[in-house]
Amino acid sequence: MSLIKFNNFHFRYKGNDEYALNKINLEMESNRFVLLAGETGSGKTSLIRCMNGLIPQFYAGYYKGDVEISGKNTTETTISELSTEVGIVFQNPENQLIAMNVEHEIAFGLENLGIPREKIKEKIKEVVEITEIESIIDKAPFEISGGEQQRVAIASILVLEPRVIVLDEPTANLDPLFARKILTLLKKIQVEKKMTVIISEHRMDLILPLVDDIILMKDGEIIAHGVKDEVINSNTFENLNINKPKIYSIFNELKKRNQFEHDIPVSIQDAISSLKMIK
Ligand SMILES: Nc1ncnc2c1ncn2[C@@H]1O[C@H](COP(=O)(O)OP(=O)(O)O)[C@@H](O)[C@H]1O
Ligand SMILES: [Mg+2]
Repeated sequence: MSLIKFNNFHFRYKGNDEYALNKINLEMESNRFVLLAGETGSGKTSLIRCMNGLIPQFYAGYYKGDVEISGKNTTETTISELSTEVGIVFQNPENQLIAMNVEHEIAFGLENLGIPREKIKEKIKEVVEITEIESIIDKAPFEISGGEQQRVAIASILVLEPRVIVLDEPTANLDPLFARKILTLLKKIQVEKKMTVIISEHRMDLILPLVDDIILMKDGEIIAHGVKDEVINSNTFENLNINKPKIYSIFNELKKRNQFEHDIPVSIQDAISSLKMIK
């Protein structure tokens, strides 16, 4: 059984003529680190909203086809039940933070599930360590920085132990140093917990070295989905209007001039070894 499965799914928001999601067929497995990329308006956020049933249950519109999360149809399962399988950190996590302090924020979801107090304490301790937020545990959400809010949002999802964590542009409001920290942290958690992490992200230079798979979207459709090297070396990636990493652009240009005939590197380390293969 697939973790996430879209079967010829279409969705149009109420009042719009165009489909925000068109002919979506997608299957995802466990233990993968996945990048979701595409121009603004290509449907990334809408695709994410399907993964816990917000589309079609919360957003009004018209849909065709279906989506299954661990075999559960998203029209027949409550959003709260789906949220135990797929945890989503939406853009602007400060809107998601509602409790008096960080500890209560993280405990909130578990309290709602009726987990005993002692067990909650244990689980909080674990995620607080993983996300390295020990020093801010007593602070109010408005007293902490954007990067810390992002970590708290991740901790409050992680504590529920979902099989999938999805993050919609998690580094949009962070400086490059914090962005790198958050992405590296997510990669570490993904590997340790063998969960699947899906990230919609514009900073290609930071995220590409970390990912296993890439999904590319354009005009509401998935135009590519596969392992990183395959997608990066495709014409579809080359032609997509997104910010490519500098390393990609250089090696792609060398490839076109027939001076390089291997897979295009995306990390600085791989680029250094690839330099030796330039003709
Ligand atoms: N809540 C909404 N109501 C109406 N239209 C929406 C809503 N959210 C997104 N859309 C439209 O759906 C399309 C896809 O948008 P979105 O999924 O946000 O793409 P992305 O995240 O890639 O920028 C766009 O045309 C956008 O205007
Ligand atoms: Mg979006």
